[in-house]
Amino acid sequence: MKKIIFIICLGINIFNRCYSDEGMWQPYLLSQINLDHMIDLGFQLTKDDIYSINNNSLKDAIVHFNGGCTASIISNRGLLLTNHHCGYSQIQANSSIENNLLENGFSAKNLNEELPNENLYVSIVKYVKDVTNEVNFQINDNNLNEKNVIDSIINKEIKNTNYDAIIKPFYKGNQYYLFVYEKFYDIRLVNAPPSSIGKFGSDTDNWVWPRHTGDYTIFRIYVNQENKPAKYSKENIPLKTDNFLKISTQGFEENDFAMVYGFPGSTNEYLPSCAVEHLKELNEYRIEIRKNLLNVIDFYMKKSDQIKLNYASKYASISNYYKKWKGENLGIFKSNAIQNKIRFEKLLMDSLKIYENYQNYDIINKYDSLYNELRIYSFLRSTFIEKVYRGVDFFAFTNNISKKILGNESDSNLISITNNHFNSYSKEIDKDLFIKLILPMVGKNNHKLIFDDEIFELSKNQNYDFEKGWNYGENKNNYSNISNEKEFDSLKDFKYTVKYNFLNIYPFIDNKKLFNVENIFEKSIFTDRGKILKLINNKNKAKVEKIIKNDKAYILTKYLFDFYFTKISPKYWDIFDQISELDKKYIKLLMDIFPNKNYYPDANGTLRLSYGEIKTMKPRDAVTYNYITYLDGMIEKYIPDDYEFDLPQKILNIHKHKNYGKYAIKNKLPLCFISTNHTTGGNSGSPVLNSKGHLIGLNFDRLWEGTMSDVNFDPKLCRNIMVDIRFILFMIDNYFDSKNLINELEIFD
Ligand code: ARG
Ligand code: ASP
Repeated sequence: MKKIIFIICLGINIFNRCYSDEGMWQPYLLSQINLDHMIDLGFQLTKDDIYSINNNSLKDAIVHFNGGCTASIISNRGLLLTNHHCGYSQIQANSSIENNLLENGFSAKNLNEELPNENLYVSIVKYVKDVTNEVNFQINDNNLNEKNVIDSIINKEIKNTNYDAIIKPFYKGNQYYLFVYEKFYDIRLVNAPPSSIGKFGSDTDNWVWPRHTGDYTIFRIYVNQENKPAKYSKENIPLKTDNFLKISTQGFEENDFAMVYGFPGSTNEYLPSCAVEHLKELNEYRIEIRKNLLNVIDFYMKKSDQIKLNYASKYASISNYYKKWKGENLGIFKSNAIQNKIRFEKLLMDSLKIYENYQNYDIINKYDSLYNELRIYSFLRSTFIEKVYRGVDFFAFTNNISKKILGNESDSNLISITNNHFNSYSKEIDKDLFIKLILPMVGKNNHKLIFDDEIFELSKNQNYDFEKGWNYGENKNNYSNISNEKEFDSLKDFKYTVKYNFLNIYPFIDNKKLFNVENIFEKSIFTDRGKILKLINNKNKAKVEKIIKNDKAYILTKYLFDFYFTKISPKYWDIFDQISELDKKYIKLLMDIFPNKNYYPDANGTLRLSYGEIKTMKPRDAVTYNYITYLDGMIEKYIPDDYEFDLPQKILNIHKHKNYGKYAIKNKLPLCFISTNHTTGGNSGSPVLNSKGHLIGLNFDRLWEGTMSDVNFDPKLCRNIMVDIRFILFMIDNYFDSKNLINELEIFD
């Protein structure tokens, strides 16, 4: 009995967190519990103000940006606000050494100067429907497979409309929702700060507080003359809309209500302990691979401005999760996530004995054995993704373009794909990456594919140059003090296991010749723009096919892709599917045993609302993080000519004379702030709204100590980071003097 009471208390304890700002809620389903809690925190609107199908509501201004980030509409002519890092590759693509928008920033003075972006799209949710019964009925009663069922429901729903739709599982497949979207294809770049402001502090400051990054960018949605979505055309005009966010420059204080409305990508809050353990190991492994990638790329970026420009986006995206995974592992450790979960699971399993329908329920052991099986495939999958698919660039390009050439894709598409790729490609870097990341996997032991031995050796003894940069500025100690070396030591034993398993599972690579550097980087057509363009021009199909099939880069790529897709991926997904079945049961079990809790579904790239308060944080003894930073702090961090902490002269001058226009409070210009909102990747660019639904900030990051929030949200440690809207307005109004844009906005002073 004592045990049962204890488990109930533990359950309450664990799930009680749902009442303290944890949760990414479905805005179309807000419960009374949520609303009461929101009102307690200061919320002044109604449920219908947040989401309504029949009337205009805030949801109509929330935009999924290019399938990844979030953005919001902030004027009646379709201005879109998102993060600098979300628009980064578009700013890069519009930049050249002569006209470097990444470096100098950019503000269009009129519509004619706004810059089109190939392949960029945004979508807005029109309505949402619960389709759980329909999906289940067809799967169970009609015995159809999930994918076919989903496709057929979608097709029925959007037939004869111009809309797009998706169906997503919630609560691990216990529920399904259908989302109908309107998609826009002509999105132009309007305003971007110089990277030294939009990406101030770069990797050193990424994921940490105190933060001073002006991470914003502005785009605009264009439509055809009928105000409808259309492909890019010169004749297109700005979207006319009533659904845009009003802005407040009235500011906030500690404990004020704040909500984040956006498209969080993916979280896993209901994992069993062994899954968190698995994630921790996988993180260690991916950290090692990325460390090597970054080290190579960084070396070349420092040598050449052109390379720095071309590789900026790739580098930023690799380093972002490299650092995130480190923070996540640290957070898992610091929040005792694994031990807490083990304790909870033991008690849960014990107590189930009293429930008749849960006798002999062995779910945790089943999880254990499945994760044990998954482990090796999950590492091999990461090897492929990190090294082959995303690391060494020619692989993905060769795979893509060869298929498209053989598949008779139009010349214009082929040319555009080729140019896109080579515009930011350096053969020198790719070759070095190939030598350092791929070759060590080959040969030596009777041509067995060995598992990254050398990479581990290499990384053990080396001080990484690019990480030295992380010792600049304020955050030097935040990062190193709290890191626990023991945590990272655990890698040693585990490396051995992986290597051992790998040798047993994998066949020999006896064709060592495949991995010949010269054949790939000197002789292949796939590492040479001119040769590929010439091939695209060649109209003799048989000959083209012969050239491709004899090409050594093609042969190796095909070998590695086939290897992955026939030997690794199917097995991985087979085990993964079995785990998913358990996930579905596990969350149902939790809901049965603790029925009074307010559960929220894991993030899945669909529209969500988080709410909480603007709040300080206490990361460790005697240290408190204030909830707001100012331009003064940016200037304190300034290091002339540093690649992360340099600043434009203009902002230094403005600071000197305190020319902040009307955006300062007490002569200080607000820059960033933090709150207890539960956010994740994909929430970048999400509008942050006050209790009246007015825009006060732009979400872009989380605190280092709380990056494990994707698997274990801890309200004491987790905070999201936002740019203050007053800083963004200051940039547009005072820094760029773009009255054309400021005049479009509706601002409450
Ligand atoms: N950490 C933030 C997010 O996950 C911002 C990343 C952009 N900045 C960077 N230095 N890569 O996306
Ligand atoms: N920076 C993230 C993004 O790009 C947000 C986060 O992970 O907190 O969506």
